[in-house]
Amino acid sequence: MGGMLVTGGAGFIGTNFVRLALAQGQDRVTVLDALTYAANRSSLDGLDPDRFRLVEGSVCDAELVDRLVADHDTVVHFAAESHNDNSLRDPSPFIQTNLVGTYTLLEAVRRHGRRYHHISTDEVYGDLELDDPARFTESTPYNPSSPYSASKAGSDLLVRAWVRSFGVQATISNCSNNYGPYQHIEKFIPRQVTNVLAGIRPKLYGAGANVRDWIHVTDHNLAVLRILEAGRIGETYLIGADGEKDNRTVIELILTLMGQPADAYDHVTDRAGHDMRYAIDASKLRTELGWEPTYRDFESGLAATIDWYRENESWWRPIKEATEARYAAAGQ
Ligand code: NAD
Ligand code: TYD
Repeated sequence: MGGMLVTGGAGFIGTNFVRLALAQGQDRVTVLDALTYAANRSSLDGLDPDRFRLVEGSVCDAELVDRLVADHDTVVHFAAESHNDNSLRDPSPFIQTNLVGTYTLLEAVRRHGRRYHHISTDEVYGDLELDDPARFTESTPYNPSSPYSASKAGSDLLVRAWVRSFGVQATISNCSNNYGPYQHIEKFIPRQVTNVLAGIRPKLYGAGANVRDWIHVTDHNLAVLRILEAGRIGETYLIGADGEKDNRTVIELILTLMGQPADAYDHVTDRAGHDMRYAIDASKLRTELGWEPTYRDFESGLAATIDWYRENESWWRPIKEATEARYAAAGQ
């Protein structure tokens, strides 16, 4: 049998994960993806058809999920509704995909005795004050702020319960904010990069003092592969690369790297309930599993990401106008 089932593999992190796993010699990868607005089928173009297959369908489809889980050794669950701003406009798909979808997968891995890895976010821990010396660890209490982070927190807790009650062979990782190629242009960094490329002024929520802990998507995925290889069943691992930056610094860096004046952006309506700061202490992952980030310089990783959007305009251009229209309707 063998093989890895990757849910949400047509989205940002999943696409990068599938490409990395195949490049590292994974013999068979099947993506299960509902191809929502967040997916881009072309992100998976050019992969070896003998080792890779895309199945269009939902993680909430119990019959389809059962059949696919039965046919693979390992399940890596990336599929989710992933954008906070969307969850404030309409939480319902977040409840469905993030909670019911995770439940559906857990029941299938339980029936078939498969290895399961659950991809989650540091946003389940809520936020930190700007001057708090603390960072999130695996023992920080859950305290999510938005419908998105609450639905991810709930899905993590389902996994923990299925490990304890049913002996499911699962691990969980909670990662900080990712950047890199193939990220949907509704998200902060690619939105601003494609704004500059499209002649639109970048948009900063509120004063922009909010801090995010940036990690390159490849480093996130290398950590996931390492957890699959050597992680202890039932454990949670936090993934982060000491990349704390405030939003104003990031937007000004994007403008500077793209040859624009650093102040050529607009302040727009702040996000409701906007988390102030996320920060990860990844000591457990580093000491127990020997993982270290390979992208150590944010500025050069960001410059390479800008180049990717410049060189792949056909990937993002068709959805730019509609994405900006949704933001404009919300005053953002
Ligand atoms: P994304 O929105 O780019 O991709 C999500 C993918 O899931 C899309 O391809 C979409 O079509 C698919 N999907 C949505 N609903 C589905 C359903 N019902 N059935 C099957 N597929 C469905 O998201 P992303 O940024 O790649 O995030 C992937 C995972 O990583 C999510 O679980 C997210 O919570 C987590 N995460 C993201 C970040 C980040 O910075 N982006 C950080 C930490 C954790
Ligand atoms: P985002 O990419 O949505 O990720 P998350 O909400 O998971 O952190 O946003 C990152 C930060 O950037 C967040 O503090 C909100 C802010 N932001 C802006 O200032 N302008 C924007 O246009 C967007 C989309 C986000």
